[in-house]
Amino acid sequence: MAVSGRVALWQQHWDSGSMAQFYVKKPHPKLQEHLDQYIRGKTKAKILLPMCGNSFDIYNFGDMGHEVVGIECSALAIRSFYGKHNLSFTKEPCPDVQGTLYQSKDKTYKIYCCDFFDFKPSVEANFDVIVDFGAMGALTRGELQSYADLMKRLTAPDCRHILESFVYDVNKYPESQPICLTLELLRQLFGHDYIVEKIDEGPDPYADDMLHELTNGKFAEEFKPVVLSPFSSADRITYVKFVDHYFLCGWGKEMGVKSSPSNVWNL
Ligand SMILES: C[S@@+](CC[C@H](N)C(=O)[O-])C[C@H]1O[C@@H](n2cnc3c(N)ncnc32)[C@H](O)[C@@H]1O
Repeated sequence: MAVSGRVALWQQHWDSGSMAQFYVKKPHPKLQEHLDQYIRGKTKAKILLPMCGNSFDIYNFGDMGHEVVGIECSALAIRSFYGKHNLSFTKEPCPDVQGTLYQSKDKTYKIYCCDFFDFKPSVEANFDVIVDFGAMGALTRGELQSYADLMKRLTAPDCRHILESFVYDVNKYPESQPICLTLELLRQLFGHDYIVEKIDEGPDPYADDMLHELTNGKFAEEFKPVVLSPFSSADRITYVKFVDHYFLCGWGKEMGVKSSPSNVWNL
């Protein structure tokens, strides 16, 4: 894998063991709560989890019978995912993404170890669902448009995204991480063909678990500055869904169907 500075930094986080502190051994409560809205009754949806780490949700979606594809730059995170769930996997080079494909033997899970920006629709596309938790917000501001552009090429015409965003005063903390993805910013990045709606907001359901780990765990010293930073003072998280959309391919060919008011939820 050709490694950018940012990717190398994330790999170091994993290799140092510090990312292990973020592992929560249950499905994300908001993904459960809003399941029907993005899965829409599909029994075998093709789900993409970009920048998936080793999150429990990868496992949970496969366990529900869906086809799960993850993209993650840390091989350690991917091996740790398979290890934690006692899943046998195969590993093969995937030159098209300049990386490696780790696939469970039962073929439920495919996780590409590569830089997300090296991923290509010719490798996997037509996703029914994108679960963007801890992904887009972890990018730099300069990467957001490329991310949105690539994401648009990976989705099926009636794909739904669910995305989590931290909310804080961007004027006060312009450089803070994770990035605050407002509805306005998402609409700008994804364009008019996407309908972006807020479906929920509230305190981070993981905050207590994480804060406990971060302030009492093995890495307390390392994380204290983070705990005191504006990032952790974000008191709300917004869950956003991108509803049925059609999108234009790079060369301007129309794909899919335009949303109609009947398939837009009013929440
Ligand atoms: C904030 S963590 C979130 C992990 C997971 N989505 C979760 O919710 O637990 C961000 C993840 O993105 C991965 N990552 C960061 N930049 C990446 C890139 N350019 N390509 C692929 N993975 C990346 C990191 O290694 C890390 O696992």
